[in-house]
Amino acid sequence: MAYIPNSVGYDCIPLIAVAVSLFFYHPVLESFPPHIFRYIELVNIENGSKLEIKMSKKLFSRGTTISCSLGLILAVGCVSAFSSDSEDSTSKVNIAPAPYTLDESGDLIRPVDYRTWVYVGTPVTPNDMNNGKAAFPEHHNVYIHPDNYQHYLSTGEWSEGTILVKELVSVGSKQAVSGNGYFQGEFIGLEATIKSRKDFPDEPGNWAYFSFTNTTKLGGDLALTASAFPTASCNACHAASADDDFVFTQHYPVLRSAKNAKRTPENQSSRPKTLGALAIPMNDDITFDQSARDAAWQATQPTPSSVAGTDVPTGQDDLFAYLKSKAYQSWKNQESEMHPSRGPHTNYGKPVKAFMNDTLSESMIAGNKEHPIGSTAIKEMYTSNYDLEGWAVEIKTHESSDSGNGWFWYEVTSVTDGNSPVAIGNGVQGCYECHSAGGTDFVKTTWPLN
Ligand code: HEC
Ligand code: HEC
Repeated sequence: MAYIPNSVGYDCIPLIAVAVSLFFYHPVLESFPPHIFRYIELVNIENGSKLEIKMSKKLFSRGTTISCSLGLILAVGCVSAFSSDSEDSTSKVNIAPAPYTLDESGDLIRPVDYRTWVYVGTPVTPNDMNNGKAAFPEHHNVYIHPDNYQHYLSTGEWSEGTILVKELVSVGSKQAVSGNGYFQGEFIGLEATIKSRKDFPDEPGNWAYFSFTNTTKLGGDLALTASAFPTASCNACHAASADDDFVFTQHYPVLRSAKNAKRTPENQSSRPKTLGALAIPMNDDITFDQSARDAAWQATQPTPSSVAGTDVPTGQDDLFAYLKSKAYQSWKNQESEMHPSRGPHTNYGKPVKAFMNDTLSESMIAGNKEHPIGSTAIKEMYTSNYDLEGWAVEIKTHESSDSGNGWFWYEVTSVTDGNSPVAIGNGVQGCYECHSAGGTDFVKTTWPLN
């Protein structure tokens, strides 16, 4: 609704401007040297054309009658525009030309040059996590038109004529020199959504949805035009689940930080202190039957009952009681805040925070390749809601790391029940195998601590 008075207002600005300037300037004009009013220039903001008024003394010496009557005509025009049918004025909403084109039958002509727009992110719904049938396979590179981005930045709202496109890209490789993951393969489709009260007055939120994807052959030629989908096909899910007026800003940090930011958010140094929504659903009820776990999670070497250089006990009950006491939280060296785990503790991406005792910290500072007996690291593991849900512990118990046998490994995924740890003991293959890659001497966290 808000845009109706707006549109009438914009309509009137050139008229008002001319009228005002004529009324205002004429009585004093004669006293101005000619070069001053030569450069009065009015821009018709509706079509961008410049209405240059190069006034000469002559014109204004005929003065009063001409300018007054001109002003009067314009003012009348303006008033009649104000009172004109507001239905019709919806067609005059866009100040800049709309960033998309509909053909005569109202179909969207495939947007071009969108890779020069503002890139907002790439959600991934890989086929192999969706029974081979992701609704939108697989990477979705999402872009928004720069004018619409600017408007969102300054107002926090989607302007009339906002367009976002999502380009679908297959998963190409799952391995790179940097590690395992989902890497982009080939372009396989193109979708778009537009908010326009003028063009889609009947769609909920005025959002219409389009697909240019070749449905018979992913990656085949894109359609040149696309009709809006029926409301139930696309709009309904966006209406129900998207965070900001039908747009899934919960999956686009670029847009979340842009909303009402006024200035360019990427130029600020501040980063959120808490983690955003984590993709992996939390599971707080994981319990492990140690005897049923496969050999990789069993201790293979004896653990000394006490270890010099650390206050952390290695017996199952004592260790759990120690962790519950949280005495380690007073250690000098600890991460300053939680961060998403890069490892499977207890799920990739859930918040964790690491603590190191003095023995380990001094060794890290010294840059030792092997850490001394008593070196201890404890990692707090949190749920997606930042509730503590368990601990992982590693203690160097022997002179030599001996491929992981010289370390004691412990992990538990409960803060109330210490009876079913994931692993406890020396030489737990499931732990040391992953910990042997990267880091120093089986410690994955790097120094200095974050
Ligand atoms: C079951 C829910 C659901 C349905 C149905 C759905 N979408 Fe979406 N859509 C999403 C989610 C979630 C995102 C954001 C993350 C992503 O890209 O996977 C999204 C994002 C988009 C985007 C990027 C801009 C935005 O709004 O976030 C476009 C464009 C889009 N969808 C088009 C379509 C089209 C076209 C259809 C109908 C053929 C459709 N969607 C149907 C859930 C849905
Ligand atoms: C697949 C890889 C992987 C496996 C398996 C794994 N971890 Fe980790 N671990 C990591 C990563 C990565 C970190 C660094 C912090 C983070 O991102 O969570 C880490 C950190 C830790 C830390 C904090 C100190 C350090 O080394 O950074 C402890 C303690 C720890 N793990 C214990 C264990 C135990 C005990 C097991 C077996 C029950 C285990 N880990 C299994 C990947 C793994």
